[in-house]
Amino acid sequence: MKVILLMAVTADGMIARNSMQLIDWTGKADKQYFVQITREAGAMIMGSKTFDTIGTVLPGRKNIVMTRDKKRKSQDKDLIFTDQAPGQILSDLAAQGFSCVTLIGGSMVNTLFLKANLIDELHITMVPRLFGRGLSLFSDSLDTHLELMAVKEIGEGHVLLIYRLQK
Ligand SMILES: NC(=O)c1ccc[n+]([C@@H]2O[C@H](COP(=O)([O-])OP(=O)(O)OC[C@H]3O[C@@H](n4cnc5c(N)ncnc54)[C@H](OP(=O)(O)O)[C@@H]3O)[C@@H](O)[C@H]2O)c1
Repeated sequence: MKVILLMAVTADGMIARNSMQLIDWTGKADKQYFVQITREAGAMIMGSKTFDTIGTVLPGRKNIVMTRDKKRKSQDKDLIFTDQAPGQILSDLAAQGFSCVTLIGGSMVNTLFLKANLIDELHITMVPRLFGRGLSLFSDSLDTHLELMAVKEIGEGHVLLIYRLQK
């Protein structure tokens, strides 16, 4: 199972000003890339705070939302609330026939997967903005080495950086 972490960051490395901020500050190019990669994979894993900022199920993809809140339930087959560990979520998806999944934030859930050594690639869109303060891609101290696979300007000054994690 290939896991792609798909995120937008400001030029000063922030993913949001705070946990409640909607991701409404990236351009069309980033949104198109997000839709393309998440649809190709067919499944997205996110934290409950990220899901709450999006506020709706993104269609045509499995939306897997990590939460410890047992009251959160869904009737929609494409929306799954889970408190399973990252490795178990991936095994279940593999058993359902998925070979690739996207991890779409936020900071807390990204850290969980990275610390479990479960991320294969990072697809980072750098947006020409500065927030000064805020949440970064990860929320704990790390020492991870990356290999740069591709750099591409995708429009509106957005730069897509694709890294492979050295394991
Ligand atoms: N720039 C980007 O590309 C991008 C992408 C995604 C998100 N974001 C931003 O990131 C922010 C949210 O990030 P965040 O770090 O605050 O939160 P988050 O990672 O989205 O969600 C954290 C929540 O995930 C659940 N969780 C964490 N660990 C868990 C575990 N081991 N088992 C089960 N559930 C677990 C908990 O939910 P419960 O509290 O419900 O138990 C926790 O409160 C938002 O502002 C969003 O806009 C930016």
